[in-house]
Amino acid sequence: MSEPSPASFFDVWDTYQKVVSGDYMFHHEIGAELRKFLNAQFDGRSFSILDLGCGDAATLAPVLDGMTVRRYKGVDLSEAALALAAENLKSLAGSLELMRDHILAALAEEAQYDVIYSSFALHHLPTEQKAEFFRLAAQRLEKGGLLLLVDVVREEDETLEIYHQHYCAWLRGRFTALSADEKDLICDHIVNNDLPDASSVLHAQARAAGLKVATRGTQFGWHWLLSFTHA
Ligand SMILES: C[S@@+](CC[C@H](N)C(=O)[O-])C[C@H]1O[C@@H](n2cnc3c(N)ncnc32)[C@H](O)[C@@H]1O
Repeated sequence: MSEPSPASFFDVWDTYQKVVSGDYMFHHEIGAELRKFLNAQFDGRSFSILDLGCGDAATLAPVLDGMTVRRYKGVDLSEAALALAAENLKSLAGSLELMRDHILAALAEEAQYDVIYSSFALHHLPTEQKAEFFRLAAQRLEKGGLLLLVDVVREEDETLEIYHQHYCAWLRGRFTALSADEKDLICDHIVNNDLPDASSVLHAQARAAGLKVATRGTQFGWHWLLSFTHA
């Protein structure tokens, strides 16, 4: 089982920023859905949020803009990404903490959050570690809290190998602002690091952890927004 390689991921960070600004992975649409979820849940009330695999937080920062965030904690393995996150989140009103850590280690710490959020990071964990993610997240969520999970999700009938082939073929057609070399770099990263599971697996793991599926999920191709609360 290959472990994620965030150092190599950061080598393609410039390329990832082009993917985000081209909205090729639907960050814009998912951000709009996220905003709706948070507004519906908190309706102006303050909340704390743990952002796991926060990267540079460039897409979450505008979503949180205007919301009453009491406490934000961002966790990532990449120091360079965390430095960018500090800049992108500097106008956040509440307390801001950024920590270099593994997602599961951060969840093992005794603290409660109103929102646990992770975007395009969980697919780096093997299936059994995703189950651990849900178990720990259920323990860290305040009563009535929300687990919001944005990630690539495999089709039910796709093996990992077929997913890699399908996704790379799709991105070569869609990511039009990227050069052939950049597309090769991303595909290389995907084949060597990405371990997405099917939504049935994620839903079953969440239920086993005592979480309730809040909505079936919003889907843009393989890119999903899943939401869970305490059962
Ligand atoms: C594709 S980026 C997503 C960044 C941001 N959340 C977004 O949605 O744009 C994935 C991030 O997850 C981080 N990451 C991957 N595996 C991780 C782990 N096990 N623990 C903490 N961070 C991890 C990487 O360093 C990278 O910054």
